[in-house]
Amino acid sequence: MELPREGIPVDEVFAEIRRRKSEDADWRGGRTFSLIYPAGAEVDAVLKAANDLYLFENALNPLRFPSLRTMERDVVGMTGALLNAPDGFGGCLTSGGTESIGLAVKTARERARKERGVSDPVLLAPRSAHPAFAKAAHYFGLEHVQIPLGADFRADVEAAERLIDERTALVVGSAPNYPHGVVDPIPELAALASERGIAFHVDSCLGGFMLPFWERLGEPVPPFDFRVPGISTLSADVHKYGYCTKGASVLLHADRDSLQANQAFLYSDWPGGIYGSMAMAGARPAAPIAAAWAVMRSLGESGYVALAGRARDATRRLQEGIAGIPPLRVLAEPVMSVFSFRSEDPDVDVMAVGDGMDDRGWHLDRQGEPDALHMMISPEHDAIVDDFLADLRDAVKTRGPARGVEARYS
Ligand SMILES: Cc1ncc(COP(=O)(O)O)c(C=O)c1O
Repeated sequence: MELPREGIPVDEVFAEIRRRKSEDADWRGGRTFSLIYPAGAEVDAVLKAANDLYLFENALNPLRFPSLRTMERDVVGMTGALLNAPDGFGGCLTSGGTESIGLAVKTARERARKERGVSDPVLLAPRSAHPAFAKAAHYFGLEHVQIPLGADFRADVEAAERLIDERTALVVGSAPNYPHGVVDPIPELAALASERGIAFHVDSCLGGFMLPFWERLGEPVPPFDFRVPGISTLSADVHKYGYCTKGASVLLHADRDSLQANQAFLYSDWPGGIYGSMAMAGARPAAPIAAAWAVMRSLGESGYVALAGRARDATRRLQEGIAGIPPLRVLAEPVMSVFSFRSEDPDVDVMAVGDGMDDRGWHLDRQGEPDALHMMISPEHDAIVDDFLADLRDAVKTRGPARGVEARYS
């Protein structure tokens, strides 16, 4: 496509956008289980209003738009309090989990170099850790070493102990991980790292805005936040179970000085004046900051607990329903609303079942080790449980051969 010589009438432009969009997944109908975390019309209205109010501003210069500076500080403050960050903690808002994780890895690399003289650093992360860690290792020049998983799909602490050495710059645990929805042994991993002066990161991108409310619902939640000693940094994504529109994750540092010394970037050696930034981006959209602030303030703790309750009930009904469709079986013991299920019968290919669900308009991410279909449940999924299970039953019965790898992207 080339830039049109003359502008096209706006209604024609939007007719074309709408035509293209009609081919996208129907997430509003609860037919997707990743990428978007639908929480209902009231939350949507808050997000739209906040986005609209800050569509044009730029969060690069906090002096020009002080409202953005104070809202970012508030979002970090509220998230730190929620996750029991210690006195003296610091943090910033980033564009998403991948950026938060990248900055945590970069910070740990700097610390290891300054404090322990590590020149060829290693990132030690469970095999189930999000690819953002492999990406960060690639970007920032660390060797990426994987901790194998135990039979319960959690990081194997004894294996981690064997792998940790003087080159280790960062140890990672997920709370929970994406593939299986289980929480790694955070206290044991944090102790392994901190006893050796090594940084430890909790990837709570998925759980940061769900596990605290799960706990308030009276559900068992393994230790994962700053109440565990030895955590250096923690990522929690407002644009996942915080229900914000995309572009908002919080990276928390137990020690504000480390954030300043190892993450912040300040530069003045050019004619354009002082340039400073906390995260990767230069110019930054303002809307995610306002949307994160607005959704957190308007929901409050009671709003989040109510939404967590809906997601929990839908999760339970789905998991019980899946258990009633042999040979399907939920993998491991997922802690919250993220889980996957496999087939226990080699003659029933779960990938073929996934294809059958695609044909019925449901979009489930595929994964391996073992082959399984993945689900992340949001509050609005409470409306689709019965239809989903009826189609799943049918898809198991009438499945053909698996079509192949096209849909394996997650
Ligand atoms: C556990 C976990 N960590 C990190 C990320 C990366 O987050 P983002 O996609 O916002 O970069 C994800 C994304 O799904 C995730 O599930």
